[in-house]
Amino acid sequence: MLRIQEHVNLQPFNTFAIPVTARYFCEVTSEAELISLCSQLTDYPRYMVLGGGSNVLFCNHYDGLIIHNRIQGISFEAKNQKVHGQFGGGENWHECVLRSVEQGLYGIENLSLIPGTVGAAPVQNIGAYGVEIKDVFVSLRAVNLIAGNVEIFNAERCQFDYRDSVFKQAEAGKFCITEVTLSLDKAGSPKAGYGELSAELAQCGISAEDATPKQMSNAVCTIRKRKLPDPSELPNAGSFFKNPIVSADKHQQLKQSFPDMVSYALPNGEYKLACGWLIDAMGWKGKLQNGAQIHQQQALVLINRGGGAEAICNFANDIKAAVYERYGVTIESEPGWIS
Ligand code: EPU
Repeated sequence: MLRIQEHVNLQPFNTFAIPVTARYFCEVTSEAELISLCSQLTDYPRYMVLGGGSNVLFCNHYDGLIIHNRIQGISFEAKNQKVHGQFGGGENWHECVLRSVEQGLYGIENLSLIPGTVGAAPVQNIGAYGVEIKDVFVSLRAVNLIAGNVEIFNAERCQFDYRDSVFKQAEAGKFCITEVTLSLDKAGSPKAGYGELSAELAQCGISAEDATPKQMSNAVCTIRKRKLPDPSELPNAGSFFKNPIVSADKHQQLKQSFPDMVSYALPNGEYKLACGWLIDAMGWKGKLQNGAQIHQQQALVLINRGGGAEAICNFANDIKAAVYERYGVTIESEPGWIS
């Protein structure tokens, strides 16, 4: 039964812990509930779907309806040589990784400990340690909030890109993802190409060629805990900026001025720059400004130190301006700013 609450404090529903309120708030626990809600959506000034709140920055009180996706369900089904994992859009992503890993399945172990829900994962094509969700993606079900029907998206329709998909572009705000199906593999192999990951495995005496999904997951968790602040202790939304992509010419020019700069060659000839390095090399790691802070262990993460959205937005703009001034590179924030 759908219950629309009013004046709900969103602080527990966003990992930046910004204490804004939602004028209207509603939890949905099934596709059917969501479909029944669609016909009422025109009654509200605006609406948005919220998962784990780990990729949003609420800049103001929200005057519309927040639809909180709580659709549960985890199941595994043998499919040819693979196993298809089906995960409800409201499930916690890391719980799903743990369940897959417990079954000895390869595929998403490198994406351990990423905060947020399953439904949010394809929206920004979550990725870490050499794997993105697109690599194992089969399909998803999503409710079209305008038409009130269920639609199926395959990988092509999702238009996945680095931290991007059709759900952030042409279809932004139109769908609520209710279920995601991923292709997992008992006979798979570990993806330990990311330097820090192979180093961590070596440290634990584990061979990178035959690490189990559980061992991979544990190694990723160790690295993440070391570098990324726990939002329950230090409110944050993971990487605040995307790693910028520049042309080969621009990359070469930067390398001449900054030989230590960390970058990755992309298949199309462009280069992705480690934005954490760019900020760190300005000497800004740990910098505190009016209640917002750049994390001491990872310069790409901004922490709410009590200054709230205003402090975070101002600081983010200052960082962006300083990076542009020093490197001539424009950086974009990863979380969506909701004003
Ligand atoms: N670096 C620095 N100083 C810093 C931070 C990073 O010099 O303060 C250097 C590191 O030494 C390393 C390089 O930059 O050589 C890359 O750093 P890291 O491995 O921590 O990865 P990242 O590029 O900063 C990305 C993702 C993370 C993901 C990691 C691991 C983005 C925006 N971020 O960070 O994702 O966990 O790779 O794959 O692509 C997230 O999206 O919220 C997130 C945490």
